Amino acid sequence: MAEATLDLRREPKHRAYPQLQAQLITILAGIDDDVAAMATMSSVIHHAFQHLWTGFYRVVPPDLLRVGPYQGTLGCLEIAFGRGVCGTAAAERRTIVVPDVNLYPGHIACDARSKSEIVVPVFDARGTLIAVLDIDSERRSAFDHEDANGLEQVVRWFAGMGRG
Ligand code: SME
Repeated sequence: MAEATLDLRREPKHRAYPQLQAQLITILAGIDDDVAAMATMSSVIHHAFQHLWTGFYRVVPPDLLRVGPYQGTLGCLEIAFGRGVCGTAAAERRTIVVPDVNLYPGHIACDARSKSEIVVPVFDARGTLIAVLDIDSERRSAFDHEDANGLEQVVRWFAGMGRG
């Protein structure tokens, strides 16, 4: 059994993400279930870094994001493509790092304590957008290209699980 609580707050990011990935691979070995995987990933990432909000918005046809498994205070239930950071990342199919949410036009404030944010698109093996991973922090400039790279690897691994 993997250690229940992973604390990566004091690790440099280049070491934190490989540890996070290793922990997720161990915990989710043999699990072929998107909801179980998204819930577990949200919990592990959220607590390892003590983020403010960590979770998934799932793509629902035609162009809507609907909240999925998450950790944190109440999130928006639905976000249209093109709206806020999540909807923009979905529409543009790219990771968006927002160092200061107050300077991002159209940012949707679900929790007033949120200062910075990263949103990473999740694609399946065919390149179809299936979700976005959204993480909020109480700290300004909490996320950078190292978080983008680390989280993009995590979601690539998730998208490959059980889907060949
Ligand atoms: N801030 C996000 C909305 C989702 S919540 O923060 C959980 C956005 O602007 O898309």
